[in-house]
Amino acid sequence: MKPLPHHYDVHLTGGPSGYAQLSTAGVPELRTAPPVDYDGPGDAWSPEHLLLASVQACFLFTLRAIARLSKVEFLALDLDASGTVDRQDGVTRFTEIVLRPKLTVSPGTDRGASRYELAMNVLDRLFFAEGRRWSSGQARGDVLELAAGSGRNFPYYGQWVRLTAQDISAVMLGLARTRAAAIGLEVDLQVGDAQALDLPDAHFDTVVCTLGLCTIPNDRRALQEAWRVPRAGGRLLLLEHVVSPHLAVRLVQRLLDPLACLLASDHLLRDPLAVVMATGFEIERLERHAIGMVEWLVARKPMAVLAAEL
Ligand SMILES: C[S@@+](CC[C@H](N)C(=O)[O-])C[C@H]1O[C@@H](n2cnc3c(N)ncnc32)[C@H](O)[C@@H]1O
Repeated sequence: MKPLPHHYDVHLTGGPSGYAQLSTAGVPELRTAPPVDYDGPGDAWSPEHLLLASVQACFLFTLRAIARLSKVEFLALDLDASGTVDRQDGVTRFTEIVLRPKLTVSPGTDRGASRYELAMNVLDRLFFAEGRRWSSGQARGDVLELAAGSGRNFPYYGQWVRLTAQDISAVMLGLARTRAAAIGLEVDLQVGDAQALDLPDAHFDTVVCTLGLCTIPNDRRALQEAWRVPRAGGRLLLLEHVVSPHLAVRLVQRLLDPLACLLASDHLLRDPLAVVMATGFEIERLERHAIGMVEWLVARKPMAVLAAEL
């Protein structure tokens, strides 16, 4: 990239009606006209379509740069964009732009797990290690860890737990098996979907989930399962990155969210606390860290449920 600042020039020629010609050095001219919604002819790029096209092109070129830096390979990006123009606060403007990316990677691409490990080595040191110790260290009895990944919480469990760890990725659980063996931890590893667990009702004393609800496609369904499988009085221990309550941080999260979803299936704007409460858990303890982006949570399935179940 050339050093900043960069300058761009575009020339427009147009009259009181009809098409306008856009030109810039080195590329073919582009004909533009209002869209049909503004009584345009509908056979030329409108400013509204050009704006969406420009957002899409920025998305692809930013993705290429990030993919190069993070050594993610992809074959193609298909990106649909829809924009809504409406009147808001007395001004007519774009009120919403939605991007729907679909990324194609080479068949057999499976460097995700080892890349995850490398990235998490850094992120744990910066943000999560203490939260892992805090959440997993409180687990007691029969413990289920949802979306356990490569088993990064395993070193923090006490010797008294009977651990079942599940994840949808057999590759991640392969790493978890190696980690468990290295520290002599007995664990029942199960490949499965946290949104539809193949496990009995009211069986566990503790359910642990760290950095899983941001990735599981339907976090509500996963939390309903996290409600179903513990006994009444059982606890849910969460460590999650969440949408920040601080506006400036939230705006950055909103900007980065489509890329994080695309590259790592990672949702930056989720708010698990609201869903945990709506599911019926009682919140016992809540801490926010890292400018509100990291949440530590202990919740309990109320004992009253026992009476309802009997
Ligand atoms: C960001 S990683 C977190 C892994 C681990 N909990 C940790 O703290 O390092 C998210 C994990 O969720 C898993 N996952 C995604 N969707 C899932 C699902 N529907 N059911 C179970 N696991 C899922 C992924 O395979 C991945 O291992």
